[in-house]
Order: sequence, then C-alpha cells, then structure tokens
Amino acid sequence: MNTPDTLLRVQDLTVTFATPRGSVRAVDGLGFAVRRGETLGIVGESGSGKSVTSLAVMGLHTGASVSGSVMLDGRELTGLAERELNRLRGRKMAMIFQDPLSSLHPYYTVGEQIAEHHRVHYGSGRRAARARAVEALAEVGIPEPRRRARDHPHQFSGGMRQRVMIAMALACEPDLLIADEPTTALDVTVQAQILELIARIQEERQLAVIMITHDLGVVARVAHEVLVMYGGRAVEQADVDTLFAAPAHPYTRALLDSLPRLDDDGDEPLRAITGSPPSLLTPPPGCAFAPRCSQLTGAAAEKRTRCESERPALDGPAGHPAACHFPTYEGVNS
Ligand SMILES: Nc1ncnc2c1ncn2[C@@H]1O[C@H](COP(=O)(O)OP(=O)(O)OP(=O)(O)O)[C@@H](O)[C@H]1O
Ligand code: SF4
Ligand SMILES: [Mg+2]
Repeated sequence: MNTPDTLLRVQDLTVTFATPRGSVRAVDGLGFAVRRGETLGIVGESGSGKSVTSLAVMGLHTGASVSGSVMLDGRELTGLAERELNRLRGRKMAMIFQDPLSSLHPYYTVGEQIAEHHRVHYGSGRRAARARAVEALAEVGIPEPRRRARDHPHQFSGGMRQRVMIAMALACEPDLLIADEPTTALDVTVQAQILELIARIQEERQLAVIMITHDLGVVARVAHEVLVMYGGRAVEQADVDTLFAAPAHPYTRALLDSLPRLDDDGDEPLRAITGSPPSLLTPPPGCAFAPRCSQLTGAAAEKRTRCESERPALDGPAGHPAACHFPTYEGVNS
C-alpha cells in the first residue's frame, strides 16, 4: 500500500511498558498505512492495544519504550524532539478522544480553548483565532456558534461536546485525524450524526482518518481498509468488503458472528466470544488466540500442538494477510 497517496505508513511499531510486575508489550510489530481521503478502521476487543497504537502515532507516550517507524507525509516521526512533534500535532495530525470531558478544560469557554489551540499552532492574533474558533464550531454544525463559543464544556450535551472536540481537532486543518472510539458514549442517532460529520469533513479536505472502535458496525459504515488487532498484534488486514465477505482469521469470524444480523428474526441469541484476551505480561508461546479458537475444538493433536507452540506470522495474499496457521481464504481452509 505504498501509493503516492499514502499519508501515514507505520512499520514494526512496538510499545513496551515497564511495570512492577514485568514488562508489558502492549503493541508488538504492528504495521499499516493510511491514504489521503480514506479511513483505516482499527478494531479489536478491550485491551488489544488500539489506544496505545494511536498514542504512539501521535508521539504521546511518555513512560513507554517505543520502536519502529512512523512516517507521516514522508517524514519519520519516531525520534523527533518533543518540540518538533508538538508542532506537528494539530497542524499535521490530530486526535479525538473517547471522553471529550477529559480533554476539554472545565474552566475555559470552548471558544477560548479552540482559539488558543489555533494561536499556538499558527501564531495568529487573538481576534483572528477567536474568529477561527467560531468558524470551526459552525463547520461542525453547532447552532448559534458565536454565542455557544462563550459557553463552557459542561453546558453542552454529550453529542455537542463531541462536535466541539472535532472542531478543536480540525481547527488547525490537519492531514490525519485519529478518532479513538469517538461515538461509544453516544446514543445511536447521535453516533450516526457524528460519523456523518467526520465523513463530510473527510471528503471536503481529503483527510486521512484512523477510526478506532470495538464496533464492527461502525467499521462497516466508514472504513476503506480494516486492521483487526488481538493481544497487541495485527491478526488480519483487508479492505472492508473483503473482510466482511471473506474473513480469513478465526478471531475476525468470531467478531462477525457476534454482530446482530439484519436478517435476524430476533430469536437467535447473540454469540459473545467466550474466554478472555491473553495476558500481555506472560504471552502464550504460540498463537495468542488458541485458548479461544473454535478451530481447535476437537482438532487433531498435531494441529493443536502447532497452534499452541508456534506463533503464526502475519502472512497470506497481498492486501489480505492473516496471522493464523490455518486461515480460511475463499471459504476454503488451507
Ligand atoms: N501506561 C501503561 N502502563 C502499563 N500498561 C499499559 C499502559 N497503557 C496501556 N497499557 C496496557 O496496554 C494494553 C492495551 O491498552 P489499550 O488502552 O491500547 O487498549 P484498547 O484496545 O484501547 O482497549 P479499549 O477498547 O478498552 O479502549 C492493556 O493491557 C493496558 O493495560
Ligand atoms: S493459529 Fe491456530 S489457534 Fe490461532 S487462530 Fe489460527 S487456527 Fe486458531
Ligand atoms: Mg482504547
């Protein structure tokens, strides 16, 4: 995926935390690319490393050891001085967090906060920055933006606050937007509005977007490419149509099986994936999904031994690799 339109290219990204109980490899050898105007969906259960990945791209990990390559618009970000990274955050890349209240300051008005953000990055005067803040609020569909710019974060509803976050993220016109579970706390109607808003702005500005979610329904709506994570690693990558029509990895299939179907008559109970995610402190020697993998139910001893002792590499056809010793391609078990 190294076309001229590739804005972000991440290779062999590894993030390790030193903890009192030992070292935690939260992200292990991850690679992906995002093109301008397109959305990469990153999906996986809680604890699979989605947020750690996005913070690593933004260069926001302090107490962690980060290795690998993060190329943004042809420029290597790993190893850059904090000052340089700070300049790029906002102008080149921005992030929307799951909980807007944690990233908006309660004491300042939203207008002041967006204006300050703009001033820091563009050195604009106070008046121009304030005008840009009102413009940014209008762009994300906040009614009466001039008046609302004088309100504080708690005076907004959850959905409107998320719009304020988007306004702040986009006020400096970044090329890359990372949205970490931007709609999880919202009800379905508001969720749809926020996703539509991001899609509209993406089209207008040819934004590259990374949409992080545990909801495959959201991925199906917005993503062009999908990366499925499990235990800090990529287990499958594909374009969205291929991933939904022909998932190759048993974990992806299990995720898809747990989705409610449109043609469901409502009688079928939802199937959750049984078992829990792997420990990152003492990862299993073989495939991290083995204890939960339906392929191993009643499997021959030889197959089980291979899965439990040999870690599968991310491999397979170009554009659709899977980390599994026995992936399913075109409906056929290899
Ligand atoms: N500062 C830290 N120190 C130690 N471990 C950490 C730290 N930050 C994250 N982790 C661990 O890294 C793993 C991945 O965390 P991460 O927040 O990326 O998960 P996630 O996929 O975003 O999950 P969720 O869907 O719940 O947001 C978790 O096991 C978490 O405990
Ligand atoms: S490698 Fe084995 S245990 Fe792991 S997902 Fe594939 S079949 Fe299942
Ligand atoms: Mg997270």
